[in-house]
Amino acid sequence: KILILDFGSQYTQLIARRVREIGVYSEIHAFDMSAEDIRAFAPQGIILAGGPESVTGSDTPRAPGVVFEMGVPVLGICYGMQTMAEQLGGKVATSNHREFGYAEVQVVGDGQLLDGIVDRDDSTGRWLDVWMSHGDQVSAMPEGFKLMAQTETCPIAAMADDERQFYGVQFHPEVTHTLKGQEILERFIRTLSGCDALWTAENIIDDLVVRVREQVGSGKVLLGLSGGVDSSVVAALLHKAIGDQLTCVFVDNGLLRKNEGDQVMATFAQNMGVKVIRADAEDLFLGKLKGISDPEEKRKVIGHTFIEVFDAEATKLKDVHFLAQGTIYPDVIESAAAKTGKAHVIKSHHNVGGLPDDMAMELVEPLRELFKDEVRRIGVALGLPHDMVYRHPFPGPGLGVRILGEVKKEYADILREADAIFMEELYKSGWYHKVNQAFVVFLPVKSVGVVGDGRRYEWVVALRAVETIDFMTARWAHLPYELIERVSNRIINSIEGISRVAYDVSSKPPATIEWE
Ligand code: XMP
Repeated sequence: KILILDFGSQYTQLIARRVREIGVYSEIHAFDMSAEDIRAFAPQGIILAGGPESVTGSDTPRAPGVVFEMGVPVLGICYGMQTMAEQLGGKVATSNHREFGYAEVQVVGDGQLLDGIVDRDDSTGRWLDVWMSHGDQVSAMPEGFKLMAQTETCPIAAMADDERQFYGVQFHPEVTHTLKGQEILERFIRTLSGCDALWTAENIIDDLVVRVREQVGSGKVLLGLSGGVDSSVVAALLHKAIGDQLTCVFVDNGLLRKNEGDQVMATFAQNMGVKVIRADAEDLFLGKLKGISDPEEKRKVIGHTFIEVFDAEATKLKDVHFLAQGTIYPDVIESAAAKTGKAHVIKSHHNVGGLPDDMAMELVEPLRELFKDEVRRIGVALGLPHDMVYRHPFPGPGLGVRILGEVKKEYADILREADAIFMEELYKSGWYHKVNQAFVVFLPVKSVGVVGDGRRYEWVVALRAVETIDFMTARWAHLPYELIERVSNRIINSIEGISRVAYDVSSKPPATIEWE
């Protein structure tokens, strides 16, 4: 396994994902992890990641000394390379221009890390296409190191001490713009650190099943099943691990997409034989939302009502000692970062599932160590339908935040139909998986339309489709006009109550993905 020490870069999570894609388990820890904990973790290789600070400052983060004393390979990336250089006796300087973006580095000499890895090899030399993002750079290598790569503006773009197996790269192998990045990481992890690719979906499942059984014994477990990816995978996994000891509560809040409730019941209760209690609470939710138009207020009401309904179902069950949750690794990293204040970019968002602390149950969080793509892969391996596992994210408050202002059943029904048409056309055209989130928004304004000879005032909906990697920034998707046209025609012609369809061309920031 690989240990990744985090110095606060937004790319750190990406490194961990890449390592796991290679089939090797990795964990991210803060740069000030204790020597004792590092030894206990027993990494086969260590990656020092990037960070926003400057090694030239005196009270900026450094790697724990033990990293260089364990006899395992160490790869420093960007800030990680700089602190490695500085700590081992080299020098780092702030260059006068920040380098950000694509660059070509020339590979020089021979070395274990980059040998034979090349994008272009001609009379001008061996070249790699890489992604750079730095202000500082190494200006003098520590003793024992030799140059591995250079550019005009960055004369020490990669360095290595093959003897001690210390490697540093100024560029970012973890981003896809570095074309051979994955190969470089694979070289470090598989060849140089000697890690076997054992982190496969099947192995992960076997391991989690054993651990869940150990934790809960013969105890009963309760799970709030939403139909989203994470809770669905938890349900399938727990069902495999403990069968009937699992009971799921699925709260239908009346703000779900078309047929969603039935699909959840069909997948889990009918096909897999999971015990699912469906709480039909549409009237309760819509009743509580009556007259409320402020988005945050709506979120609160929906959150509280969810707990109320869930609680009521839970107390009907006897002897339940465990509460399962679909917490995944990014949630864990983010809340840890938020607590220590170490991460510079912190997502303020969501998924605070909001169950009260006084539910005296022990948590079961089998996905705590997994990234989203791993969760998806084990979901498929557990037999969940592909469409469910690869569905776009859907916010907890559901259509409640896609109906602007006050939520009414009439609006939700119209929106469900429009959204279903949009999704169907996205699937049919192959665009569903080319965008990362798409949906329809209901606007409670009336606009004029013509039906037959008469004028009609009907509602307006907006189509939203975005491309994004982290959901913190997003670009509106450039869907083909023909597709938008087809969706618009179908919506206006078949849904009574809608006379106008708009396409949202706002990017985030400054707009957000949802409209509320
Ligand atoms: P925004 O609209 O903030 O959305 O750009 C970013 C991502 O978060 C989702 N989102 C939510 N998820 N509860 C959730 O569970 C919420 O209240 C909520 N609001 C937004 C949104 O769908 C997008 O994926």
